[in-house]
Amino acid sequence: SRLNFVILLGSLRKASLNAAIARALPDLAPPGISITSLGSIGDFPHYDADVQEEGFPAPVLAMAQQIAASDGVIIVTPEYNYSIPGVLKNAIDWLSRLSPQPFANKPVAIQTASPGLIGGARAQYHLRQSLVFLDAFVLNKPEAMISQAAQKIDPESLQLTDIGTREFLTRQISALAALANRLRE
Ligand code: FNR
Repeated sequence: SRLNFVILLGSLRKASLNAAIARALPDLAPPGISITSLGSIGDFPHYDADVQEEGFPAPVLAMAQQIAASDGVIIVTPEYNYSIPGVLKNAIDWLSRLSPQPFANKPVAIQTASPGLIGGARAQYHLRQSLVFLDAFVLNKPEAMISQAAQKIDPESLQLTDIGTREFLTRQISALAALANRLRE
């Protein structure tokens, strides 16, 4: 049966390389898999337990509902200072306080893009650590660390033009689908 994956994006800027990767994903999905974007995590307030006590913000509730209804999450994010961006951590912190907690038992794939040579590898391992506490099932391999991303994305159209990267991401989406199907059995 069909699988629906949702994209959680860790960059807020318009010309984001990671946003360009995220935009490419629906077209890269193999047959039988649809991929849709979640709302912007820029709409989340700073996490504050006092605010939470008055009620979860509407954007947090909406995103949690979409994640819960999905068959898996693809997190596409930059690396900031060898870790994940604060805005992404803030979003994870909000979502983690809900019950049911939307990442529990959820298949998750991680993609990072950077203009540098390491492709955001260090952020991936910090993200994996938080997702252990959230009890998600993070795809082990293939790891999608997109280095020198500025050369793989057309600066005018902001489209992912690099064929090798496109093929590789399709393989990772297939692997996430295999994981999702195995977890459903
Ligand atoms: C960066 N950048 C960066 N790159 C990297 O590969 N490792 C890193 O640790 C960092 N650290 C970092 C910190 C901060 C605060 C900024 C603003 C940037 C560079 C980063 O990869 C680059 O700006 C990307 O273009 C950001 O991703 P988006 O917004 O293009 O998706």
